[in-house]
Formats: sequence, structure tokens, C-alpha cells
Amino acid sequence: MAPKVTKICCIGAGYVGGPTCAVIAVKCPHIKVTIVDLNADRIAAWNSPDFAVPIYEPGLVDVVRKARGRNLFFSTDVDGAIEEADLIFVSVNTPTKKSGVGAGSAADLNYVELATRRIANVANSSKIVVEKSTVPCRTAESMRTILEANSKPNCRFDILSNPEFLAEGTAINDLFSPDRVLIGSLQTPEGKAASDALVEVYANWVPTKQILTVGLWSSELSKLAANAMLAQRISSINALSAICEATGANIDEVSHAIGYDSRVGPKFLKASVGFGGSCFQKDILNLVYLSESLHLPEVAAYWRQVVEMNEYQKRRFSKRVVDTLFNTITGKKIAVLGFAFKADTGDTRESAAITLIKDFQSERALVNIYDPQVAHSQIWADLQEASPQASLDSIKKQVTICGSALEACKDAEAVVIATEWKEFLDIDWEEAYKHMNKPAFVFDGRLLVDADKLRKIGFKVTTIGRA
Ligand code: UDX
Ligand code: UDX
Repeated sequence: MAPKVTKICCIGAGYVGGPTCAVIAVKCPHIKVTIVDLNADRIAAWNSPDFAVPIYEPGLVDVVRKARGRNLFFSTDVDGAIEEADLIFVSVNTPTKKSGVGAGSAADLNYVELATRRIANVANSSKIVVEKSTVPCRTAESMRTILEANSKPNCRFDILSNPEFLAEGTAINDLFSPDRVLIGSLQTPEGKAASDALVEVYANWVPTKQILTVGLWSSELSKLAANAMLAQRISSINALSAICEATGANIDEVSHAIGYDSRVGPKFLKASVGFGGSCFQKDILNLVYLSESLHLPEVAAYWRQVVEMNEYQKRRFSKRVVDTLFNTITGKKIAVLGFAFKADTGDTRESAAITLIKDFQSERALVNIYDPQVAHSQIWADLQEASPQASLDSIKKQVTICGSALEACKDAEAVVIATEWKEFLDIDWEEAYKHMNKPAFVFDGRLLVDADKLRKIGFKVTTIGRA
């Protein structure tokens, strides 16, 4: 029989752990959910009296408001929460390794391992341990070995893989109505019982036919594969955007025509200045590393090309800006609208804007940045990380963070749209034009604005995927 889950602990109160477990708490009032994190500031923000939660995600505050203090708790007491839980989600981050074996492509599993060891050391009763973090294939096996080698007598650990498919910006909706929930387990009676216990949690709001139960390795690989396939669509459409720019075809028309085929479908075919986010590049590189370790070089090269195409797209876009501005942007002011990796999030991980701004900096342009959500401290941290050899003071001489789009456009030669924030549609473009140097240019990296309307005002408009 499946063990009954009454207390859940989630290790990692980030973009994945926070929203996911807050939604579980709202949908399962009979389950006590405790989200823990080593970062005390983050936990304090989740607990703040005015609900100033640490991540911007539409609808999230309402969810936290409903459940916090009822059956949803945020805490730094990692051990206490582990000890009382029947089921533990491991939602710590798994960044790409920066040094050592597999640097630049393998995932850094240090945090996953630390969390696993902590569970083994603290637990005095049996637990279901669920990998929520996206991990390379067969990580569950390592977790199991660590847990078994360190467990106390009478403690049993069952490992499940339950990857999260939410996209930032739509996380709450994705969690309320997921396309599917995927649960991987060992195909032993105990493994299946643990899987059933987690199915029962999700069945509180997800139709059971959408809860897919599979083997452990299939589940782990499916998450990497799903992200790789999504990213591959964007790189494919971006590769076509280069052909459009060279031939006079229009990428929006091409996407529309392709997407009309019901086998392809219309979603995720929007050409852009390049995909960003914490997952796509990292997960593809994971897949590349896995393929290489399995001695499958052709498979590795195939997936690596998806990332290379993305780098090419970003480089191509900044080159187009320089070329169009008469081959030099030295000393010219460029307004970059949007710094987040996509709209409706304050997350900047792998954002294309970072690469563009770095390119503009190396051309010695002056850059004005405006983003409606990203914290200024985050922007400075990202720019500093992108140019480690430069001092923050020298970066600040070239870059200014502005409080509005209009302020960013003042005295600029060009506006670059890097993120598809809806509010950029409502900019008073006539006003922006008045205060810009002439000729005034707009570079739309997101197919966002109405180019004809801007041309009527007087702008010279360049759009991704159009000649
Ligand atoms: C997620 C997923 O979990 C990761 O697998 C995915 O591929 C990328 O996104 P995310 O929630 O976005 O991670 O990461 P982050 O917002 O950095 O949250 C992780 C949290 O775990 C941080 O708040 C960090 O402080 C916490 N943490 C990390 C711990 O509490 N303990 C640790 O040992 C390590
Ligand atoms: C992605 C997956 O969608 C999600 O299922 C997984 O759990 C985590 O990774 P996320 O990275 O949060 O989610 O956002 P997503 O909407 O997938 O966008 C990723 C990047 O692709 C963004 O930079 C976005 O602007 C870009 N994108 C997306 C395009 O350039 N064109 C598109 O058509 C769609």
C-alpha cells in the first residue's frame, strides 16, 4: 500500500521550489508543507508581513497569502523540516560546472549531494526523497547510494524523480493546470508504492490521466529532452530568421505557415534575439555531456549546435546594430529595453540582454538600461560577472540604469528591445522620438512593436527576421 503523505519538506526556496510547493500547499490543505533554504534573507522575504516574496511571478503572492501560516511554512530550520517530513523535495540549484571535470557542460551536483547527505544524517524515519531539480540522467542512483550508505537502522529511503515543467512568468498557471506531471520510480513494489504516494498528492487537483508514471531514468532524461526539444525549435526558427533577413522573407509569416501544420503546432516558434533562462542552455549542455560520456559524439554535436546557433543569433543581432549605426557605436548612447530573460519575470539568468550589453560595452558605447522588474543590484551583479576584468566603477561609467523607458531613450541614438515586456507596447513613442538623436533607430529583438507605426513617427526600424 502507498504510504500516506501528511508532511512535505522542500529543500530550496527558489524559482522552482517556492512556487511549486506553495501551490501544493494551496491545493492540499491537509498536508503540511515546509519550504526550507540555507539563505536566511530569502526565507525572511518569503515570510515578510507585506508578502514581498523574493521572486516576481504573476499570481504567486495570492497563492502564498492563501496558505502561509495555515499549512505552508518557510524556514531556515532544514534539519527540523527533514525530520518531520514523510516526503522531501530536493529543489536546490544545479548550475553548469565552472571548473574541474566537465567544466562548461556538466551540471554541478554539489548542492544536490549536500542536501542528500543532510537528509541521510538527519532522518530518523523512512522518507520518500524526490528529485525536483533538473539533474543529469542517473543522479537518482547516486542519491540512493548515498542515502543507503548513511542511513540509520529502520530508515528506508525511496527515490523518485519528479521534474518540474513550469515556465517562469506563467508558473502559477502551469502549476494549477499542468500539461502533465511526470513521476519516475524504480519499478520495484516499494518504488511503485512511493510513486503512488506522490500521485495521490498531485491527484488533489491534476486529472490522473495527466499524471504519467515511468521508470526513474526515463523521467530524468525526459526533462532534459523536453527542454532540448523546446530550445531546438527556437534555434531552428532563429536559423531561419537569418535566411529571412538575407532574402526579404518575413519570419513571422514563415512561423505562422509552419505552425499551421497540426503536427508542428504554433507555439514556441517566435524568432528572438536568443533564448535565455536558467534551464535551456544548462540542460542541453547536460545532454551534450551525457552523450559524450556515452561515446555518442554525433549526438553530442547535434545538440551542441542548438546552443551554438543561440550564441550566433545574439552575436548576429549586436553586429546588426553596429552595422546599421554606420559601423560604429563608440560614444553613442544605446537604450536597452528589458534585461530579464523573458517577460513577466525578474530572473536574468542567461538573459540575451547581458550578452548584447557586453557587446555594446566592448564597442565603447554608452548603455541606458530599463527593465520593469529586475533589481538594479542584480543588473550590476550580472554585468560585473560578464566582465570580470573590469571594475564596477568603470562599468558604471558606461552603463546607466533608468527608471522608465522614456528616460532610457533620452538622447539615445538607438533603442534595442531585448525583452518582450507588454508595457513596451504602450511607450509614448512620439515622445521617445522627440528626445532622441536623429536619425533615431529601433532594433526589435522580440518582434514586439508595430514597425510601420514607428516608421510613420520617423524611426528607422530593424526587426529580427526581416530584411
Ligand atoms: C531550479 C531547479 O531546481 C534547477 O534544477 C533548474 O534546473 C534550475 O532552476 P531554481 O529554483 O531556479 O533552480 O534555483 P534557485 O532559485 O537558485 O533556488 C535554489 C535555492 O536552493 C536557493 O534559494 C538556495 O539558497 C537553496 N539552496 C541551495 C539550499 O537551500 N541548500 C543548498 O545546499 C543549496
Ligand atoms: C523552460 C521550459 O519552457 C519549462 O518547461 C522548463 O520547466 C524550464 O525551462 P523558462 O526557461 O522559464 O521555461 O521559459 P520559456 O518560456 O521556456 O522561455 C525560455 C526562453 O526562450 C526565453 O528567453 C524566451 O524568451 C525564449 N523563447 C521562447 C523564444 O525566444 N521564442 C519562443 O517562441 C519561446
